[in-house]
Amino acid sequence: MVKTGPKKGKRLITAALPYVNNIPHLGHMVGSHLPADVFARYSRSKGYETLFVGGSDENGTPCGLAAEKVGVPIGTFLDTLYGKHKDIYNWFGISYDNFSRTSKPVHNETVQDFFNVLDKKGLIKKGSMKVFYSPEEDRFLPGRYVSGECPKCGYDEANGDQCESCTGVLTASELKNPRSVISGGAIEIRDSEHLFLDFEKLTTDLRKWVGKQKQWRSQVKGIANGWLDEGLRDRCITRDLKHGVPVPVDGFEDKVFYVWFDAPIGYISATKEATPDWKDFWTGESEVFNFLGKDNIPFHTIFWPGMIIGGEEFNLPKNVLGLNYLNYEGKKFSKSKGVGVFCERLPELGLPADMWRAYLSQIIPESGDTEFKWDEFQERVNSDLIGNYGNYTNRIVKFTNTKLGGELERPTPERVLPKDREFLDEIKRQKEEIEESLERADIRKAYHGVMELSSMGNRYLHDQAPWVTIKEDPERANDVMYHGALLLKTLATVSAPFIPDTAEKVWDQLNLSGSPLAKGAWDTATDPLDKKHKVGEPQLLFEGLDDKRVEEYKEKASKATDLAGFF
Ligand code: MF3
Ligand code: ZN
Repeated sequence: MVKTGPKKGKRLITAALPYVNNIPHLGHMVGSHLPADVFARYSRSKGYETLFVGGSDENGTPCGLAAEKVGVPIGTFLDTLYGKHKDIYNWFGISYDNFSRTSKPVHNETVQDFFNVLDKKGLIKKGSMKVFYSPEEDRFLPGRYVSGECPKCGYDEANGDQCESCTGVLTASELKNPRSVISGGAIEIRDSEHLFLDFEKLTTDLRKWVGKQKQWRSQVKGIANGWLDEGLRDRCITRDLKHGVPVPVDGFEDKVFYVWFDAPIGYISATKEATPDWKDFWTGESEVFNFLGKDNIPFHTIFWPGMIIGGEEFNLPKNVLGLNYLNYEGKKFSKSKGVGVFCERLPELGLPADMWRAYLSQIIPESGDTEFKWDEFQERVNSDLIGNYGNYTNRIVKFTNTKLGGELERPTPERVLPKDREFLDEIKRQKEEIEESLERADIRKAYHGVMELSSMGNRYLHDQAPWVTIKEDPERANDVMYHGALLLKTLATVSAPFIPDTAEKVWDQLNLSGSPLAKGAWDTATDPLDKKHKVGEPQLLFEGLDDKRVEEYKEKASKATDLAGFF
């Protein structure tokens, strides 16, 4: 039976473009890529015309600085790091439709076009700005090359452009005791001519828009309102740098756009590169969802929306999913101190990506900072993935094979008992609850709902005890297993956005055609199985984690590769 539900619209889903100045750790995965991926996979399955884009943020200072530290040409550095990032997201099953780069020509064009529109609308002003200058190195130093004390919170290793600790955005003259990150030497403040985006003209519209965003989580609202309350000043959008997107204005040949001006436009260039119909994803009914970490919240709630309001008629985001931070065993992730789980080490551990995805889905920092803990990882794998989900799958497939000749028969309506009806209704209700959570991109709650569905299946089997009934009433045993298998089909479908490889394996064991990830699969998840349905062979989904192995993993995964080791 083919269901033709109401036609679903377009969704453009983005994950913040990572600087490729480092290799991602688990905090990066839970902070944008994974939640965006779960949401994208769900959206496809639900039938939305989905495009999931991202890419590497290669301009500006963070990458330049890293290349300089390693001592290789910037181009070589970026090519290598881009490749590493891409491999890691692939390994994790992050289903980007396009993972682009901001060093591509299509991006330069898109940024310059975007700028020209703002300029035509009279939103660009020229002005002079105080910038850091290093007499010792004889060059202007962008904020990232300078570190000092944050005037807002006192953190003494704030960058010249933003304080990592309090997320405050800083200008050159505000930072106390500035020094060069490269030479450690003292810094002068000089005047330089720059371009500014006139934020005053945008404030009224921006305020109105922010005020309407009821769906934003509290940390997102808090940070956006904090900015608005402080009052928006004009934003400088150029820098005295060589590496970046050229500024199409006479006299600005030695400057480039500020990385936070060009990077979000990367969402547009990545869309452009992905499809000739790219404009349809940015206009009309199309809904845009941005996933990003905490330090990116000001840019995605104020600066970027301001650019959209000022620019061409592109859609503002339907939701800005700003996440908090993930800590590691009570500490901050630190590459140099070997504190954390570093993604480049994961493939060699040999654990399937789904194990990581499953645990990480439970600790996505949606409402506050969260923590990665090895013993919790072990416990969740052993009790949820294996004890609950894997066990349920195995009970259905194995019993059907050994006791029912591998075939299930759909019970006629009079054979369906009230408790079975209740069970079937519960499956639908639970699926709807998961769907509601996913529509809000509440990934943790949705994942919890998936595990609850699995528990419901185990409880049903326990209560109906088909292994007892089989002796006197094999038909009843068949009927129970049939209902159980229907739950398993639903379970495979609703778990697929979180643990896609595993869901496919369950699908195979159930011997179903198509894929639990196919477009529209979501809405047919609870449809009946064939009148006579043959299941496949049971196969093990996950191997258990014992203490000894966990110790080994812990040891290996915390050793981050020194960047120089890649060259
Ligand atoms: N590169 C930034 C970071 O890693 C994020 C850029 S997000 C975008 O913090 F919107 F600009 F793309
Ligand atoms: Zn601060």
